[in-house]
Amino acid sequence: MANVLWAGRLKEKPEAEASAFQSSIAVDKRLALDDIRGSRAHTAMLGRQGIIPRETAAALDAELERIAGELESGVLKIDETAEDIHSFIEAVLTERLGDTGRAVHAGRSRNDQVVLDFRLYLRRAVPEILTELAETLRVLLDRAEEHAASIMPGYTHLLRAQPVTLGYHLVAWCAGLERDYGRFSDALARLDECPLGAGALAGSTLPLDREAVARDLGFGGPTLNSMDSVADRDFALELAAACAILMTHLSRFCEDLVIWASEEFKFIDLAEKWSTGSSIMPQKKNPDFAELIRGKAARTAGNLTTLITLLKGLPYAYDKDLQEDKEALFDSLDTVRSCLRMFRGMADSAVFNIERMEAACTGGFLEATDAAEYLVRKGLPFRKAHEAAAQVVRDCAAAGQRTIAERSLPELKTRSGLFEADLYAALSPRAGVEARNLPGGPAPEEVRRQIAEMRKKMEAVS
Ligand code: ARG
Repeated sequence: MANVLWAGRLKEKPEAEASAFQSSIAVDKRLALDDIRGSRAHTAMLGRQGIIPRETAAALDAELERIAGELESGVLKIDETAEDIHSFIEAVLTERLGDTGRAVHAGRSRNDQVVLDFRLYLRRAVPEILTELAETLRVLLDRAEEHAASIMPGYTHLLRAQPVTLGYHLVAWCAGLERDYGRFSDALARLDECPLGAGALAGSTLPLDREAVARDLGFGGPTLNSMDSVADRDFALELAAACAILMTHLSRFCEDLVIWASEEFKFIDLAEKWSTGSSIMPQKKNPDFAELIRGKAARTAGNLTTLITLLKGLPYAYDKDLQEDKEALFDSLDTVRSCLRMFRGMADSAVFNIERMEAACTGGFLEATDAAEYLVRKGLPFRKAHEAAAQVVRDCAAAGQRTIAERSLPELKTRSGLFEADLYAALSPRAGVEARNLPGGPAPEEVRRQIAEMRKKMEAVS
């Protein structure tokens, strides 16, 4: 085991297995460059404030910069037996600079250091997720535009309900993703406070300049309360929730895709490179990517549960339990990032069988609501109109007819005298879709308007 930072207090060290158990370096090593960035801002401030000599500050800064370069180039390898990334970097500084290295931690605790590193990391990672999300939205909106007028059945209870368009269905997906974008942006805004200077939980007696450090690191300002600064993990929880919700969306979209790709539906052909084969059944082209994204949504729900359970009942301020926070959130962020990229590739290359989709709108009486609304327009109260249309559907079923249009006008009139010849024009799937032109509806022109509006919204924020 590497030297620990607290060796002065405890003469005995945990045994190797116990050390490994409480070490977090396998997870927090990805914070290395953020840790160095925080240390550079901290030491520069210590020098300016006269807490350490200026030469010491300058030497620390130069060495920290060198360490960052060596880590990036791979010359310096992270010691996996160190307790955590903070210990490792301080150990390297001390090994190289002796007492100068030992000056770096004045006025700081790993408790504020780790929250700072975590926040700095997230301020890099969340914008990347936002970019992936915006790009995914762009791809879906393009596909929606391409299919703004492609007729398909809309479903409730997984039964054909009313005709809509494929573009309309895709914009429905986009609406969820656009809210996800808002959730990640909100979480990012709340990351804009710098916890450094909070110390272990109660600040420091040294004349630290928290404002300057916060500014140096690009934050809006320092956190308000030091105890909160080291105890708070709301930002992690919020992001884990944003990830879980986003993955719930992707999971549902993928479920749609899996259904559409089935032999029974055949609404979609996934590209060969976005499918996999079977080791035994030669005919198979499986929608594995969609299924795996759906499956990975489970781990983001699990990570959210981990974090909220971790925090519940935790006494103020810092407790070592909090070390478990990063693994859960990193996993969620990694999952979201890869799933967005995979989903995008799959959705972009899929071929929609629009003839089959449109054909599926005929035969299931998806026009029944339109027949009822026809009667409402002629003055019949809706409940009566609903009943008359239902009777017509029953008549059709009894006569082996697949659509209301197959019934003659005299036959229809036995159910309502208000039916006239102009009914027939209203019964085709396309007529049904085109007539649903309310704001938010599936009429192709309206779908195009929704697409344009969402594009404008995204342009304004991304
Ligand atoms: N590795 C620790 C974490 O991730 C750093 C903070 C340790 N602080 C402490 N008092 N043991 O939370």
